Amino acid sequence: MSDFSFSSSFLLFLFLIAGLWAQMVLVNDTVSGFIGTNVILHCSMTNPSPSVKITQVTWQKATNGSKQNVAIFNPNMGVSILAPYKERVTFRDPSTKDGTIQLSRLELDDEGVYICEFATFPTGNRENQLNLTVLAKPTNQMVRTTSPLIARAGMTEKIVVATCTSSNGKPPSTVTWDTKLKGEAEYQEIRNNNGTITVISRYRLLPSREAHRQQLMCVVNYQLDRFTDSMTLNVLYEPEVRIDGFDGNWYLNRKDVKLTCTSDANPPATQYQWKLVPQTKMGMDRMNGSLPDNVEVQNSTLLFKGPVMYNLAGTYVCEATNTIGTRSGLVEVNVTGRKLSLPLP
Ligand SMILES: *[C@@H]1O[C@H](CO)[C@@H](O)[C@H](O)[C@H]1NC(C)=O
Ligand SMILES: *[C@@H]1O[C@H](CO)[C@@H](O)[C@H](O)[C@H]1NC(C)=O
Ligand SMILES: *[C@@H]1O[C@H](CO)[C@@H](O)[C@H](O)[C@H]1NC(C)=O
Ligand SMILES: *[C@@H]1O[C@H](CO)[C@@H](O)[C@H](O)[C@H]1NC(C)=O
Ligand SMILES: *[C@@H]1O[C@H](CO)[C@@H](O)[C@H](O)[C@H]1NC(C)=O
Ligand SMILES: *[C@@H]1O[C@H](CO)[C@@H](O)[C@H](O)[C@H]1NC(C)=O
Ligand SMILES: *[C@@H]1O[C@H](CO)[C@@H](O)[C@H](O)[C@H]1NC(C)=O
Repeated sequence: MSDFSFSSSFLLFLFLIAGLWAQMVLVNDTVSGFIGTNVILHCSMTNPSPSVKITQVTWQKATNGSKQNVAIFNPNMGVSILAPYKERVTFRDPSTKDGTIQLSRLELDDEGVYICEFATFPTGNRENQLNLTVLAKPTNQMVRTTSPLIARAGMTEKIVVATCTSSNGKPPSTVTWDTKLKGEAEYQEIRNNNGTITVISRYRLLPSREAHRQQLMCVVNYQLDRFTDSMTLNVLYEPEVRIDGFDGNWYLNRKDVKLTCTSDANPPATQYQWKLVPQTKMGMDRMNGSLPDNVEVQNSTLLFKGPVMYNLAGTYVCEATNTIGTRSGLVEVNVTGRKLSLPLP
């Protein structure tokens, strides 16, 4: 007998639990939407028992600990939407089971906790709450530094070559750089009052000849979106000079020899100047750096008109100049008595 009464009260307990569960308010725990879009805030009452009467469905927003009414459905009095939601909130299909609303044209201020409450008789109120997150797509852009990048010897301070900005995103974007350059990026996050975040990254680099024409790409990842923008660096640098034409086999009376000065420069070299530093003894008369009489300068080329003679020997210097500076290259020319049979490396 006592066994039976135990099991029956246990069963009653189970029914009570089931009954409470049966009257749960269902919402989506978290809902998110972009500014300007519409979101559906689901809310429904599970399995209402016929003995329980639902008298009202109320949506509230919890703000600073106080609750503000948003929308009310009352089976007797109908729907009422409260300011400032009048134009933006509608019940989807109001009934005593379903209190789902649509919130249109989302604004940043809509973010927060929303409470959906079913008033029932005689069991009292049942409620559940959800978090609404408002997302904001950022605007992204990369801007290159306007002042020219100039490579200078001895420079140690890196300078900003480009700035990549992802403005007013929520949540914040991730900004990275994709490049072979050996610079460094610095990052800054600015929290705006409206909850959006601006991410700024500056790419710093020591301008060099090697960096010229290299690609620099800014990559912004926001949610599943990826934005990229790239630029090609334009680094100005003074001439890097090389002299071609001496093969180590300038023998007496050889004809048609020449030296050509080539330079890698940005902007290109506009002026070339040749000088000769003669070897000792031979050509003491040209110690001031002037060239032998039988050579002709054609732009960056030195043409030797006559046959090779001993007095051509010496160190030939080519100075190339562009707007950034002047640099020189040199070649040691020696003259042999007779032709070398072996080709030199
Ligand atoms: C939100 O809730 C509704 C009804 O309860 C359900 O149909 C829907 O799948 C839920 N959505 C998400 C994303 O959980
Ligand atoms: C919430 O409270 C803060 C200060 O506690 C106040 O600045 C803010 O305006 C309040 N927000 C609303 C929506 O009332
Ligand atoms: C909802 O937001 C509140 C405060 O913003 C937070 O404490 C809570 O964990 C959030 N709940 C969920 C389900 O994300
Ligand atoms: C948020 O604030 C920033 C900075 O004041 C502003 O530029 C941006 O337009 C705002 N975003 C929205 C959606 O109001
Ligand atoms: C002449 O110049 C060539 C190439 O620079 C070098 O290999 C060679 O040793 C030089 N000969 C003399 C005699 O200096
Ligand atoms: C260099 O010396 C040569 C020969 O002595 C002379 O003809 C020439 O004018 C001199 N040039 C300069 C720039 O002094
Ligand atoms: C070389 O100089 C001549 C004039 O002496 C000029 O006409 C020509 O364009 C120059 N060539 C180059 C490649 O600079």
